[in-house]
Amino acid sequence: MRVSVIGCGYLGAVHAAAMAKLGHEVVGVDLDVAKVNALTAGRAPFYEPGLTELLTETLATGRLRFTTDLAEIAGARVHFVCVGTPQKRGEFAADLVYVDAAFTAVLPHMSDGDLVVGKSTVPVGTAERLAIDFEDSGATLVWNPEFLREGLAVQDTLHPNRLVYGVPTGMPGENAQLVLDEVYAAPLSEGVPLVVTDYATAELVKVAANSFLATKISFINAMAELCEATGADVTGLAEAIGYDERIGRKFLNAGLGFGGGCLPKDIRAFMARAGELGVDQALSFLREVDSINMRRRVRMVDLAREVCNGSIVGRRIAVLGAAFKPNSDDVRDSPALSVAAQMQLQGAHVVVTDPQAIDNARLKWPDLTFAATAEEAATGVDVVLLATEWAEYCELDPLQLAKVVREKRILDGRNVLDPGAWRAAGWTYRALGRR
Ligand code: UDX
Repeated sequence: MRVSVIGCGYLGAVHAAAMAKLGHEVVGVDLDVAKVNALTAGRAPFYEPGLTELLTETLATGRLRFTTDLAEIAGARVHFVCVGTPQKRGEFAADLVYVDAAFTAVLPHMSDGDLVVGKSTVPVGTAERLAIDFEDSGATLVWNPEFLREGLAVQDTLHPNRLVYGVPTGMPGENAQLVLDEVYAAPLSEGVPLVVTDYATAELVKVAANSFLATKISFINAMAELCEATGADVTGLAEAIGYDERIGRKFLNAGLGFGGGCLPKDIRAFMARAGELGVDQALSFLREVDSINMRRRVRMVDLAREVCNGSIVGRRIAVLGAAFKPNSDDVRDSPALSVAAQMQLQGAHVVVTDPQAIDNARLKWPDLTFAATAEEAATGVDVVLLATEWAEYCELDPLQLAKVVREKRILDGRNVLDPGAWRAAGWTYRALGRR
C-alpha cells in the first residue's frame, strides 16, 4: 500500500521506516531540511536503538523516501499524521498548532477513498473537530494512537501490544477499518489485539494509559517518602506488592520519577482538557501525581546536601545520565538534567555525563560541565549521583570508581545499585526511599 507519514520526529521517523519494513511504499514528510537529509542518507536524527539499521534496510528496498515537499503525499492511500503536541508555554494545555497545520496542509491533497490517520496524542474532541474539515474531501479521518516507548520504538512499532482504531460510524468507519487492517496485516497476523472504537475513546485510550503509568510511578514514589520517614525499604516493598498479579511489578521503580516528552505533558494536557469539559474533579488526583513526581527532584538535591554535611556550595558533583531514561538521547523534562541544573544553580560544580545525550543536554544547559565517561565525570568529585539507569552505570565497579573520586559518596537516583557492594567498597550509599 502507498502510505505517507507527515512529521518525522521520534514517532514519525520510526513509523515511516516500520511501515516500509511491513512492505508498504512510504513517503515521509518533514519541514526540517536537515532531518529529511539525515533520514534520506539513512542516519537517524536522534538516538533510537535499531533505527539506523531499519532505515538502511528499508531505504535499500526503494520503498522508503523522505521529502520536505508535502505535495508528494498525493497518490498515497493512507496518510499518517505524526506531529508533536507539546505543552503550551505557561499553560497545562496541549499546543495543537502543529496538528492543526498538518491537517490543514494535507486536506488539498486528499482523493476519494484516502484515509487520514491521526497518531499524535491530542485532547479528546480533536478528531471530531478535524473530521468536519474532511467531510467534502472524499477522505475518511481515523484516530490510531501510538504507544511506542522511546528506546524500544522499533520493536513497539513493528510488534505493538495492541492496536486501537477510532473510526466514524457506518460505512466510512467499516471501510476505514478494512484499509487499516491491510496496513497492519503483519502485526494482526501475529495475533495483536485490536480495539475498534469511536474517536473520543481512541483519543482517551492514549492519555488514560499514560496517566495510569504516571500514577503507578508516583504511587511508588509516595511510598518511598513513607519509607524514608519510617526506615523501611521501597525496593523490598515494590518487590513484595508486585508479586500480586493485580498490581504487578512493572513501573514500580522508585527514584527520580518520570520525565520525557510524553508522561509529564500528557497528564497536564489531560487535566486541562478535563477542566474545559467541566469534569476537572475527575482528574484532580493527577495534580498530586505531578507534585509527587516533581518533589523527587527536590528531595534528591536535599539528599546531596545531606551527604555533603549541609551544603553543596562549591562541591563537585558528578551526574551520571542526562537523558530522561536509558537508551534514549531525549532530554525533554529529564529528571537527571533537572537535578543537575538545580544543584549547579545552588552553587555546586556539576559535571554531567551520558552515553548519548550530551549534545542535547549541552544545548539545554550550556552552563553545566560535560564529560565523556563516568570515570572522567567522577574524577575529583565529592558526590556521584546515578540519575539515569544506563546499563554501563548500573554495572560500575565501586572499587574502580573509588580510585578517582575525592569523597566516596554515591547517590542512587534509580535504586539500581547494590548498596552492600558499594558500602563494602567504603562508599556512603544513599537512595530515595531506602535506609
Ligand atoms: C511513555 C509510554 O510508556 C508510552 O506507551 C507512550 O507511547 C509514550 O510515553 P516513554 O516516555 O518512552 O513512553 O517512557 P517510559 O518507559 O514510559 O518512561 C517514562 C518515565 O518514567 C521515564 O523517565 C522513566 O525513567 C520513568 N519510570 C518508568 C520510573 O521512574 N519508574 C518506573 O518504574 C518506570
